[in-house]
Amino acid sequence: MKYGFIGCGNMGGAIARALSKSTKQILVSDRSGKAAELARELGIDYGDNVTIAQTCDVIFLGVKPHMMQEVLLPLQHALDERKPMLVTMAAGLTVEQIVQFAGTELPVIRIMPNTPTAIGMGVIQYCHNALVTQAQLAAWLRDMAPCGMLDALEERLIDAASALSGSGPAYMYVFLEALADGAVACGIPRSKAMEYAAMTMAGAAQMYLQTHTHPGALKDAVCSPGGSTIAGIRALEQHGFRGAAMDCVIATYHRNRELGKA
Ligand SMILES: NC(=O)c1ccc[n+]([C@@H]2O[C@H](COP(=O)([O-])OP(=O)(O)OC[C@H]3O[C@@H](n4cnc5c(N)ncnc54)[C@H](OP(=O)(O)O)[C@@H]3O)[C@@H](O)[C@H]2O)c1
Repeated sequence: MKYGFIGCGNMGGAIARALSKSTKQILVSDRSGKAAELARELGIDYGDNVTIAQTCDVIFLGVKPHMMQEVLLPLQHALDERKPMLVTMAAGLTVEQIVQFAGTELPVIRIMPNTPTAIGMGVIQYCHNALVTQAQLAAWLRDMAPCGMLDALEERLIDAASALSGSGPAYMYVFLEALADGAVACGIPRSKAMEYAAMTMAGAAQMYLQTHTHPGALKDAVCSPGGSTIAGIRALEQHGFRGAAMDCVIATYHRNRELGKA
């Protein structure tokens, strides 16, 4: 199976990096040539969009949603002749829209990945149209295993999942930096504060993933009555932390819906 990446920036590059652990049969393209350096590093090939459309069996579409139509238009003839499987990661664009932009009926998988895919810790939801065979899906899932978690999800829920896990790393980095800033304000050196904050986030997440204990109960186990942690929790609640976190996901969801209609 030969893979192509049309557009290989932050997200396409993260997937190519993980996928290259399964196979080196990967050809990537972009506009600026930056992906050539990534290709060298990963031991894969760099080429152009037309060669990818003419030679690859599975083609990841890693361009921004608003560019998808103009990128696929000149490739319509090659796609119609060969019917490769397309894998779109574009926020807000449906499988049906991708088929329309491709100008031909062909197998399409829609994924919603996130950047920790680059280190095998990704969360990737996927759905697909009826032209994707069970054999194609099984082979693709096998090759994608180094990316992290892959979870089938109805297409109508992809925009909501995107607002949580697709965009989620950005929310986590803001929280991580803010926690570290607080510790720096209390006298901890910056580099130590970042490490402590990141490891605390990773450890807390692992506690939940390994025990599936409700987060409220895990939080209670840290809060002694009359202690210091509950004073910190009170400050978070007074500043509307939970409402802000919910509004953050909902705002991203609405923007995803707008992008799909644009
Ligand atoms: N970033 C995320 O965390 C994330 C998460 C989930 C989904 N996504 C989705 O992933 C897609 C890519 O986002 P991104 O953040 O990776 O954007 P990005 O870093 O800007 O990457 C876009 C890539 O597309 C390339 N490109 C643009 N025009 C092209 C053309 N005509 N032919 C070939 N390549 C072209 C760019 O090349 P140059 O750099 O050379 O211009 C670049 O490699 C989007 O659809 C987005 O919705 C992103």
